[in-house]
Amino acid sequence: MDRMEVTETFAGIALPGHLHTQESLGFAAAFAFRPTDVLIATYPKSGTTWMQEILTLMFSLGDARPAKTIPNWERAPWLEQIYCREALRDTETPRLLTTHMPAHVLAPALQRSKAKVIYVARNPKDVAVSFYHFHHLAKFLPDPGSFDAFLTQFLEGTVHYGSWFDHVKGWLGQRHLLDILYVTYEELHQDLCGTAQRLSTFLGCPLAPGTLAALEQHCSFAAMRENAMANYSLIPPEIMDHSQGRFMRKGVVGDWRDHFSPQQNALFNQRYQEEMGDVELPTQWPM
Ligand code: A3P
Repeated sequence: MDRMEVTETFAGIALPGHLHTQESLGFAAAFAFRPTDVLIATYPKSGTTWMQEILTLMFSLGDARPAKTIPNWERAPWLEQIYCREALRDTETPRLLTTHMPAHVLAPALQRSKAKVIYVARNPKDVAVSFYHFHHLAKFLPDPGSFDAFLTQFLEGTVHYGSWFDHVKGWLGQRHLLDILYVTYEELHQDLCGTAQRLSTFLGCPLAPGTLAALEQHCSFAAMRENAMANYSLIPPEIMDHSQGRFMRKGVVGDWRDHFSPQQNALFNQRYQEEMGDVELPTQWPM
């Protein structure tokens, strides 16, 4: 199936053109955040969809109906995508929003507001593997070529959505400037309920009785894989070629071990050290 080759460039970053325009990106950069807004910020393949599902259930007090009847892109619209303005027209507060934008694009608007930000990060080796596979089904991304070629581009930061290192460092740099909580994909795996408690404290949104049980039931990989409102199976095949794989692919920690050669791992570690060696990381950071 042919790829949709249109690319939009914004703030030096290549983005899929069918989802983004200069107008939609400008709308995101100048967004009028409300104090009650909650923004999920991620580099792609870091646990965005999982966090959307968790927060949907927390906000619905454990009622699974919204998660099972409304597509996630409506429940937590993407700030920078073309449909966002329309999607938010009648949204009540609190609004749940999502972004892959780097911090420097959104920070000025966020700093003027009291909106809360949840930044989800994942071990970049697993991000690279997940992103590589995602390129096979996402027709709006370039052909990734071999895994080795893709990994080189990932480390250079020339893939769509830009450098993982810059993204993570940019949002970590906002820790004293924004009301921001850092969560990792690995923590969600290790202790979903404990992380939900942490989210609840941060958001000032007490967990209703039954919410933790609902989270365990509806936010498991198996449940989300079957939920058409979360697994992107509703996206038409010319945009996502579902014969090439599933959005909910494996959902595990450490899949990179089955993909990286010893040389690729050594190169990755060296690059990671160069980029992240001096960076003060939140506790429980992967790697
Ligand atoms: P894999 O490709 O490694 O399976 P994002 O939503 O940021 O695009 O991230 C997608 C990744 O998160 C995919 O990783 C997907 O399987 C994984 N994922 C989504 N929901 C999950 C869940 N409930 N449990 C574990 N992993 C999940």
